[in-house]
Amino acid sequence: MQLERILHSQGFGSRKLCRILCYDERVAVNGEICDDPSADFPTDHLTLTVDGEDWPYHEKAYLMLNKPAGYECSLKPQYHPGVHALLPSPLRERGVQNIGRLDEDTTGLLLFSDDGTFIHRMGSPKWKVPKVYEATTKHPIDAAQVKALLAGVLLNDETVPIAALACEAAGPHTLHLTLGEGKYHQVKRMVAAAGNRVEALKRIAIGALTLPEDLPVGEWRWLSEADLEKLRK
Ligand code: URA
Repeated sequence: MQLERILHSQGFGSRKLCRILCYDERVAVNGEICDDPSADFPTDHLTLTVDGEDWPYHEKAYLMLNKPAGYECSLKPQYHPGVHALLPSPLRERGVQNIGRLDEDTTGLLLFSDDGTFIHRMGSPKWKVPKVYEATTKHPIDAAQVKALLAGVLLNDETVPIAALACEAAGPHTLHLTLGEGKYHQVKRMVAAAGNRVEALKRIAIGALTLPEDLPVGEWRWLSEADLEKLRK
């Protein structure tokens, strides 16, 4: 593929801007500066370096963010900055979208992609990709609350009780709850319906993919093939 097209596909701006990046010798391909935007390169295992920063080529973008509190999962945030502000501009430019939403005050694992099929599959209630949350509760968790969450609780605008796929107390005030769907404020409302209150909420896993302990809050990283495989399980 021509370098100009490669750069454009990876979010480095219009074709014209990408040509200028090359002419200005700001682009290296696999470590070698290339000032010819029409030079052809195979995209397999290709790494671009733009202004000294390495960008491995990804035909489609799949990434995870350790979402901090204080960010909205929206392209048009109203009261707080949007999560997209935490991503570098080439990723925003190539149109990555957050997959599902976390509340502004919820932290943890949030996926992004520009692959429409993947976004649909991961977000679709039909696939019921389980999501695991760690809730810090105001009151100590008791066995009756866990039992109620597993049996199903009735939320005010629902007609049938909703049950957690899994639920266990991981500490006196720490609840691990697995949900197959993602209704508005679902964990907070379920825990409230069971007689407790969520003080802090973190998503710790989606399917078999867990939030890596070494991914700092506010940081993102590409999903590896192994990560994607875990999501497909
Ligand atoms: N449930 C909630 O209550 N909030 C979230 O952000 C996610 C699930």
